[in-house]
Amino acid sequence: MPSNRPETSAGAAKLLEEILAERFGASIAVDPHLPGLDELTRIASHRVHRRFLERAVAPDLLRLLCACALSAPSKSDLQQADILIVSEKKTQRAIATLITDMPWIADAPAFLVFLANGRRLPDIAKARGKPFPNDHLDLFFNAAVDSAIVLTTFLRAAAAVGLGCCPISAIRDHARTVSDMLALPERVIPVAGLCVGWPAQSGYITPRLGLEVTLHQDRYAADDVMPRIEDYDRRREAHWPYARQRSPARWGNTGAYGWSEDKARQYAEPLRADFGAFVRAKGYCLD
Ligand SMILES: Cc1cc2nc3c(=O)[nH]c(=O)nc-3n(C[C@H](O)[C@H](O)[C@H](O)COP(=O)(O)O)c2cc1C
Repeated sequence: MPSNRPETSAGAAKLLEEILAERFGASIAVDPHLPGLDELTRIASHRVHRRFLERAVAPDLLRLLCACALSAPSKSDLQQADILIVSEKKTQRAIATLITDMPWIADAPAFLVFLANGRRLPDIAKARGKPFPNDHLDLFFNAAVDSAIVLTTFLRAAAAVGLGCCPISAIRDHARTVSDMLALPERVIPVAGLCVGWPAQSGYITPRLGLEVTLHQDRYAADDVMPRIEDYDRRREAHWPYARQRSPARWGNTGAYGWSEDKARQYAEPLRADFGAFVRAKGYCLD
């Protein structure tokens, strides 16, 4: 969130409008009398942080943020998300060693892993002498969604105290190894790691797809979205062009290189194709 806090509510509304215009390339009106403009501005100002000061995050603060994150809503109050704090630096370094292109994992003052826990519920059913006829895809899905909500809530809590974060789904490229390192039992799987620290840079707002692509009213707008996605490509490239084109040996170097070209190239490679096998081996039924 920008540090130069506006003094008036009109100033706060204008700041939020500017941030949203940068994000979506469109003007979104903000009523200056709306309560909670500070919080909305913090949410809209979200940015990932990958560079951190060499300053520890106090364990008590981390615990407080985890408690706030675990206050997130939970499907049917089932509470299927856990957080694992990796406080042993050797474990953090071992995880970082697996993912050599992300040096921010080793550098992060704190590292957490957000877990989907599909174990507790069947264990409770057993302890209570009840059948558990819900061992199917929904168990996995609910636990993964709960975990993602807790992760997001942690991001909000961390931003509120001035910390920066970078989620790390790349730990799932090594799901079995990470799972063994962290002694994760059956049906407890890593959803994402999280680097946490005091930001060394202010970071920047990444433009998002226009709301005409991602916001629907009453029915899904299934028009051909490519022209609008290409508008987004141009808007994004004007502010934050990609420093490098992905896989030039396979696809060559193109003149205009937008988000859609980058994502199409990214997903032209098989990624994490063994994850389903890992999840099944962890005891989930995905049918
Ligand atoms: C679930 C999830 C997993 C992510 N995994 C990684 C990752 O493995 N490595 C990384 O550097 N960034 C990762 N990110 C950060 C995204 O790259 C980043 O959020 C995205 O580029 C948009 O930037 P922004 O968050 O600043 O808007 C992840 C983000 C999310 C939400």
